[in-house]
Amino acid sequence: MKTNSIGLNAAKSISLSNDLNRLLANFQRYYQNLRGIHWNIKGKRFFDLHLKFEELYTEANLKVDEIAERILTLGGVPYHTFEDYISNSKVPVGKDITKDEDAIRLIVDSITELLLIERAILEASDEAMDEGTNSMMSDFIVEQEKTVWMMKAWLGEDI
Ligand SMILES: [Fe+2]
Repeated sequence: MKTNSIGLNAAKSISLSNDLNRLLANFQRYYQNLRGIHWNIKGKRFFDLHLKFEELYTEANLKVDEIAERILTLGGVPYHTFEDYISNSKVPVGKDITKDEDAIRLIVDSITELLLIERAILEASDEAMDEGTNSMMSDFIVEQEKTVWMMKAWLGEDI
């Protein structure tokens, strides 16, 4: 087994960095969805939601950087073009969303997609004994699950 300079199986590291690139692309779409609803939200809850969406996109922006730097640490190259983000994303695209309920649903649907990818990476990183990626995924998952709970509570729905 060929190991790299951080002591991980070299082939598995590259495979994980590819998985993380898919997550990065999807995160960029989630981030852009949040910018869109931050800008376009209308109605009586404007001030609350405008701020809430800013809080979420600021967090998402930090995570984008963490993911990209993990990809580099594993020996990969992070996607950095819109073309790559578009062709590797499954997160729904939110366009012209102005209503509060639609905005919150877009967040839930986006995070649901991110969670699926993160759970797959959690499993693969466990198998590769890649603790760095594994703990990063754990942290993301816990935080996003909580966000989904709160958004569902706001919608008046069960998880
Ligand atoms: Fe703003």
